[in-house]
Amino acid sequence: MSLDVRRRSASERREALKEVLAEARACTRCAELAATRKTVVFGAGNADAELMFVGEAPGASEDEQGLPFVGRAGGLLNTLLAEIGLERSQVFIANTLMCRPPGNRDPQPIEIDNCHEYLLRKVELIQPAVICTLGNFSTKLLRGDPTGITRLHGSPEVLVLGARAVRLYPIYHPAAALYTPRMLETLREDFHRLPELLALGAPEQPSFAEVPEPAPEPAAQPQAHAAGGERGLEAGQLGLF
Ligand code: URA
Repeated sequence: MSLDVRRRSASERREALKEVLAEARACTRCAELAATRKTVVFGAGNADAELMFVGEAPGASEDEQGLPFVGRAGGLLNTLLAEIGLERSQVFIANTLMCRPPGNRDPQPIEIDNCHEYLLRKVELIQPAVICTLGNFSTKLLRGDPTGITRLHGSPEVLVLGARAVRLYPIYHPAAALYTPRMLETLREDFHRLPELLALGAPEQPSFAEVPEPAPEPAAQPQAHAAGGERGLEAGQLGLF
């Protein structure tokens, strides 16, 4: 991903995101996952969201529907979002892995590594101000550090991911909180601090003054985006609102 992504308009970034989606749908970097998945769960929500969530990996329901967090943990995530006055259509939800690990086993380091580039491209194109990592896997991945969620939850920090500086905010994974009332209480408290974090806006971005202006793009072809498949991308997995 080139640094000039920051100079692109929202609609250009959205088109680029659809290209990443198309690429991801054909991905076979993890042979086992590619052979066993039903769908590639790219992520869903607002392609220009201020707030992005990163979970662990799709489960059975997500694999079935091709959408993240549609099972019980997703129900809790929806409830928590509603409590702070947000809907899924206002945020973007992704995962560390886009494919379901068979039998819901843990993601393997090589799989996380294979999928990392896709996640960074999503971050660079969506340009969120806040990334809320749900649980250990995404927190350790994006911080590049093995410190666990029990120590880090509820503590925001500024991080540069690819070309984007974000406020990273680790919280417990909703699936872990489903059956543990005390963890749910902590998750809820942390979640309710999201509005104040969002109110700070994006952190100062790293300076890339040396990046030249991109060459002007050729004029759009009127028929180029009218194909059914293209509309299918918009109406389906990306759910661009
Ligand atoms: N758990 C996750 O981490 N991601 C999902 O999409 C669903 C459950």
